[in-house]
Amino acid sequence: MNHPFVLLIGAILSIGLSWNTLIVNPQKHFGQLTTQDEIPKVLNGQQKQGRQVYAESGCVKCHTQQVRYFEQDSKYGPRFTVANDFAGQDKPLLGSHRIGPDLSNLGNNGKYTGGDGRMNLYKTLFHAKESQVMEGSSLASLMPRHYFLFDKVELSSLAPDNEYSELARELGETAGLEEGHGYIPSYRAEVLADYLMSLKLDQSLFVAPIQESSEE
Ligand code: HEC
Repeated sequence: MNHPFVLLIGAILSIGLSWNTLIVNPQKHFGQLTTQDEIPKVLNGQQKQGRQVYAESGCVKCHTQQVRYFEQDSKYGPRFTVANDFAGQDKPLLGSHRIGPDLSNLGNNGKYTGGDGRMNLYKTLFHAKESQVMEGSSLASLMPRHYFLFDKVELSSLAPDNEYSELARELGETAGLEEGHGYIPSYRAEVLADYLMSLKLDQSLFVAPIQESSEE
């Protein structure tokens, strides 16, 4: 077995095969997805900025964005997550620990859609409301407050028709600010909310069809 030639062939084969499996094939499959049928979501500029805020703020430490092919994950979305969901994004923010709930389908959560939805999302981020105690636990929420995503304002400086007047007063009260002061979402909070609302698993894909039985 002292043939350098055999060793060389072996080395070339193993490198070549791995190259083909790990790089060429995925590139063939995902690098050329172009149609809307295969790419469920393309982020717009603001949502991309929001994704950056999500990454910087460490949300990924506690929240996953992957509905796995397991029964216990079916509550998080009508289908499981596939690579297509992250097409065009570098470093998908999958997360590895679920200290808080999975956020893959947050954009379809009734609490955050509709009229007051957006304000509810800001309150969750700010933690203005008594947060829900986690299922099966006697602990209060482990989600930290995100005051740094909000700006302190004087309520009188807001125009009466400002969409945040009511929210500002409520957040200020909860945070125990002196009378006449409040908090409004900063630009970073606004783009973060844009990004969070873009997280949806409602498109049925060939590789991950929506199951009839799990439709809401
Ligand atoms: C230390 C862990 C931790 C971090 C960091 C964290 N969260 Fe959470 N989050 C939780 C927990 C636990 C819950 C569930 C309990 C609750 O509602 O307070 C939660 C709940 C939520 C919810 C409500 C989900 C629902 O189904 O109603 C949203 C939205 C959310 N987090 C977004 C974020 C965002 C955005 C960030 C980053 C800016 C973040 N979280 C950072 C632990 C965390």
